[in-house]
Amino acid sequence: MLSFLLLLTVTLSVESQKIPGEQKNDSCVCKLSSSIWAFPAVRFEKAMKQLQTCEENLTEFQKRIRDVELPKMKLTLKNIKSRQKRSDFANRNDLYKSLHLQELILELEEIYNTATEVHKKNPSKTTNDLLKELTKARKDVQNMYKSNVFNLETMQKRLRDLNNRVQSCKTIPEDFRSTCHQRIMSRISSPVVTKLNSISKSYISGAWGRDAKPNSKERYWEHCLVSGHKYGNTFRMYNSYEDFMGSKNYKDEYVASSYSHTNAVQGSGTILYDNTVFYQCYGKAEICSFNITTQKTKRMKLDDAGIENTFPFCYYSCRDWTDIDLEADRDAVWVIYATMENHGNIVLSRLDPVELNITHTFKTHLFKRSVSSTFMVCGVLYATRFVNTYQEEVFYAFDTTTGQEINSLSLPFEKVSAGIANLNYNPVDRKLYMYNDGYLLAYNTFN
Ligand SMILES: *[C@@H]1O[C@H](CO)[C@@H](O)[C@H](O)[C@H]1NC(C)=O
Ligand SMILES: *[C@@H]1O[C@H](CO)[C@@H](O)[C@H](O)[C@H]1NC(C)=O
Ligand SMILES: *[C@@H]1O[C@H](CO)[C@@H](O)[C@H](O)[C@H]1NC(C)=O
Ligand SMILES: *[C@@H]1O[C@H](CO)[C@@H](O)[C@H](O)[C@H]1NC(C)=O
Repeated sequence: MLSFLLLLTVTLSVESQKIPGEQKNDSCVCKLSSSIWAFPAVRFEKAMKQLQTCEENLTEFQKRIRDVELPKMKLTLKNIKSRQKRSDFANRNDLYKSLHLQELILELEEIYNTATEVHKKNPSKTTNDLLKELTKARKDVQNMYKSNVFNLETMQKRLRDLNNRVQSCKTIPEDFRSTCHQRIMSRISSPVVTKLNSISKSYISGAWGRDAKPNSKERYWEHCLVSGHKYGNTFRMYNSYEDFMGSKNYKDEYVASSYSHTNAVQGSGTILYDNTVFYQCYGKAEICSFNITTQKTKRMKLDDAGIENTFPFCYYSCRDWTDIDLEADRDAVWVIYATMENHGNIVLSRLDPVELNITHTFKTHLFKRSVSSTFMVCGVLYATRFVNTYQEEVFYAFDTTTGQEINSLSLPFEKVSAGIANLNYNPVDRKLYMYNDGYLLAYNTFN
């Protein structure tokens, strides 16, 4: 009997096995265990499984990167950026303090000249006292300059107060006090209007109100911001309260051909006065006015105003793009903003609505980011803060006729949602108008 050797190579497992065989009858017979075939099959299966797991793990990994890690990295980057922004601001502040004595002297001269002019036109004990104080301030600054020892911050504060008092002397028109005699607001009613805007609940930022010019036609307006709640170009106008409440018979007016036009609206600080829309111009530290009657646009630069969320209203549940807020008073339009120069505190400028130029500028000590909204009544600026989702409170007032700041007010009022995009006072019906996360609210006010 011949013995043979069968050499079986199991290619998949890259292993070979020797199997002895015998000649029987006319053939060679080998005893072959099937287990050597089963083995690579299992290995193969295992390898396939691993490959699959690997693929699954890879997909899993990619998904994780996309959904978890990338957003995390983005957030970190954003944090770093915003922290850097804050320190930039601090650095610039420092720079301001150390370098600008010369500027301070110029500013003082300007205030002095204005005060002299005011005094010449309308001499009074107030203007006389102011001039005396300004003369003293001038002397102090000269001494600071000579001795090289100075406290710029204190001097700046003093100048800011003096400036406000000089501006106040300029402000008071003959009939001012008599028509708005009892000056500080004492109470705000429950909402007398609560209505969703006529376009969509998803428009959480915008503004609404009634034409604020005394003796103007009764006209209600509604304006929603699109494209990341940042830009707008349409104003929906109603000729009566009934039409407004029924969202009917309206006319859409366009201040620009699209929301990305240079004359389009940025942010929610808009106001309507004398059938003219006043607003922040698209992407610029400028005020635009669009007279609906004449269809003409005017522009005016607002020097140093922080824009693009540099100094938004931001107490809690902040709305973006609230850097520049426009308000209407009886005979003027006011613009509320903040500057680096005033350390992010609110600056208040009075505009001539027709000429669109600044007639007065006041600087407050109120940090703009610490309030949620502002409005003007009879030359007094009011500021509100967030209490909770359903309550807001007026806590601060700045009287432009005296330059006095009041920090102790507490006038609570209700809202239906947390975020305030716009709050404005209308001197015609003495109502406050609020754009509250897509809801349009109005309140009565009491002196
Ligand atoms: C060999 O041949 C004989 C007769 O033909 C048969 O009986 C026997 O089963 C065969 N053996 C094998 C192992 O095939
Ligand atoms: C797939 O992921 C699991 C659990 O995360 C891990 O235990 C396994 O080793 C991974 N497999 C491969 C092939 O990377
Ligand atoms: C708007 O135009 C009308 C018509 O010319 C004019 O009477 C009015 O004063 C203008 N208003 C403003 C704020 O420009
Ligand atoms: C505003 O503009 C008008 C007209 O151009 C001008 O007479 C007036 O002096 C300006 N007022 C200020 C404060 O610049």
